[in-house]
Amino acid sequence: MDRYAVVGHPIAHSLSPDIHRAFAKQTGERLHYDKLLAPKNGFAAAAAAFFQSGGKGLNVTMPFKGDACRWVDSTHPAAAECGAVNTIALDKGRTHGFNTDGFGLIRDLQAQGVAISGRRLLVIGAGGAVSGILDALTGAGAAAIHIANRTPGKATALAEQHGGKFGASSLGDIRGTFDIILNGASAGLQGEGGLIAAELARGAVCYDLLYSRDGRTPFCQWAKRAGAAWVCDGLGMLVEQAAAAFAIWRGQQPETRSVLRALRANRRD
Ligand code: ATR
Repeated sequence: MDRYAVVGHPIAHSLSPDIHRAFAKQTGERLHYDKLLAPKNGFAAAAAAFFQSGGKGLNVTMPFKGDACRWVDSTHPAAAECGAVNTIALDKGRTHGFNTDGFGLIRDLQAQGVAISGRRLLVIGAGGAVSGILDALTGAGAAAIHIANRTPGKATALAEQHGGKFGASSLGDIRGTFDIILNGASAGLQGEGGLIAAELARGAVCYDLLYSRDGRTPFCQWAKRAGAAWVCDGLGMLVEQAAAAFAIWRGQQPETRSVLRALRANRRD
């Protein structure tokens, strides 16, 4: 049976095996999908061992997306552009790297009726998760994108990488108003406080790239308290990026919304 896995550190919490098993069942594909824990500096060795032992494809999660981009034999242009690979496929003995995160985000927003086109976007964070979605947001027609980060220099660097067409600032110095706020900061939103002024979220659409089964991530809870018009975590994005990976590997496009509903209900269909 063809073998796939998600590699990360940590990896125990990953929902990817549940998602891919559900896709396999739905499409009648026979495959095996595991979690693979690699040491923090051990991505290359773990990936090489996986493919040498007959593995067909890997999903890559934190903190290895940059390592994966450097490791693969070739990269799809969208992955090369953001320097991050979340899906590796083996073809005729060569490894190919893709990034399906941006596509997954746009698909989930579309499915939920959130339009990006013509909207002013605030993106919090300037790490791997954010660099993976910026091109997709531009492609979807965002009118303006402002990147705010704890370390403002990283926001500026990311904006410059994209031809200087985005705004950049620290978290405490965000000017303007925004229709949609996307959180890509990996921590720091615990408890009562938010990373940015609550006025920014009032009346806005707020979407967390992080997820939890019940959708109550710290950012989502903060945004609700701040008076956001609509709040959602990134579980739908996770399912959509997985569906795009599944299509690359198996040539079949699975239906996603039933899988998302089952995850929310903590069911294994
Ligand atoms: P990822 O691949 O998930 O994006 P990352 O590249 O380590 O992970 O980026 C993490 C992001 O979360 C960064 O934007 C980071 O801000 P810095 O660039 O200043 O490090 C942000 N982040 C992490 N912890 C944070 C905290 N406690 N407060 C604010 N931002 C935080």
